[in-house]
Amino acid sequence: MKSTKRESWTSKLGFILAAAGSAVGLGNIWRFPYITGENGGAIFLLIYLVAVILIGYPVLLTEMSLGRKSHKNPVGAFKAIARDNTPWWLVGALGVFTGFTILSYYSVIAGWSMAYIVKAANGFIAEADFAGVFVEHISGVGEPLLWHGVFMAITVGIISAGVVKGIQKAVKVLMPILFLLLVVLVFRSVTLSGAGAGLVYYLAPDFSQITAQTLNDAIAQAFFTLSLGMGAMITYGSYLSDDDNIADSAGYVLGFDVLIAILAGLAIFPAVFALGLSPDAGPGLTFITLPAVFAEMPLGALFGFLFFVLLTIAAVTSSISLLEVVVAYMVDEHQWERKKAAQIIGIVVFVVGIPPLLGYSALSDIQFLGMDILDTYDWFANSIFLPVGGLLTAIFAGYVWRTDDILDEINQGNSVLKIGVWFKIMIKYIIPPAIAVIMFVSIWQTFV
Ligand code: TRP
Repeated sequence: MKSTKRESWTSKLGFILAAAGSAVGLGNIWRFPYITGENGGAIFLLIYLVAVILIGYPVLLTEMSLGRKSHKNPVGAFKAIARDNTPWWLVGALGVFTGFTILSYYSVIAGWSMAYIVKAANGFIAEADFAGVFVEHISGVGEPLLWHGVFMAITVGIISAGVVKGIQKAVKVLMPILFLLLVVLVFRSVTLSGAGAGLVYYLAPDFSQITAQTLNDAIAQAFFTLSLGMGAMITYGSYLSDDDNIADSAGYVLGFDVLIAILAGLAIFPAVFALGLSPDAGPGLTFITLPAVFAEMPLGALFGFLFFVLLTIAAVTSSISLLEVVVAYMVDEHQWERKKAAQIIGIVVFVVGIPPLLGYSALSDIQFLGMDILDTYDWFANSIFLPVGGLLTAIFAGYVWRTDDILDEINQGNSVLKIGVWFKIMIKYIIPPAIAVIMFVSIWQTFV
């Protein structure tokens, strides 16, 4: 077996785009607007921003540092830094398992988005019953399976090509396209007549709307959107060279991720209000409400088509980070060859994604706490695995790996941002109890 040198990003920009590509995904464009719409609009945007900066940023810095310090996958990273014979590597193992779980249903939703590209090209925007179209699509078998398979094949193809020739090359092309498309859509949306009410809803906070649920959803969204809690940023950080600065890189990633989410809201809410639709339509907002919006606008068929292209691009640059976590683990810890690892894991993920896919047809009788199979996967990932992973990562950082050593790692190299004592306070005393409380409330609410 030939031993190959571990790859590194070839530029600072390559790393930032890859990590931003991981962060920016269905979470920003599909999930963020509908969660915002369910939580009162502007007030959620505000609390989400606070959660991203006070909880997301320190955990992001920690994960990137764990990766860069160890140059390992999540399991190897915890092993390398924890004392021998301690079980901290299990946090990494939970992450690998979580990546696997998220990818399996993420690919199903991304598959819907791909199918919608074709539907838009075939003129479905001219039809009237968008709820009917969506239900008919997801309760089918052949088409969703086909697109789930195509999406996984694309993800496997990029990961097989490697970190530089696959991931870095793909994100350098895809991220700028995504940004441009979104700006075009925002422009279209805010210039519709009647868009003003949507801007007020989205930008003028109503403080009477805050509930425990708002806080809970904001923190969960902060984790999901920054790809935290399962070692994706550990893995990407592990390909970072020693002279790049983590504080600044993480700052760019966070800034870009937030910018895309804010733009997604600006593309959606003004249009929703301009057409007199409701912002709290839930997960269907993207697939049902938005096509109705496109149907009403001049050149709507074109914008609808572009939108689903954009959503798919965002999903690809995220799904590769989920697969990379599992592949890096098999390559580092079990000496698998990269291509073989990507293909085998890709096939297994495809199969694990079949039950949630069939949850709207053949398996629609299977329910867990009133949720269908896809929502059940999503619930376990977002309400349990990610918070537990994030909580344990913060505890590890604060009490096992000394915070002074982490700060050295974070501040290494030239930087604009200097991280200091507030990081220690957040990681040791604020973030663990905050996550624990929120997680408890969320689980409790689901069961009562
Ligand atoms: N952040 C991505 C999104 O918003 C999803 C994602 C990619 C993710 N990798 C992750 C979520 C790792 C949690 C953990 O769509």
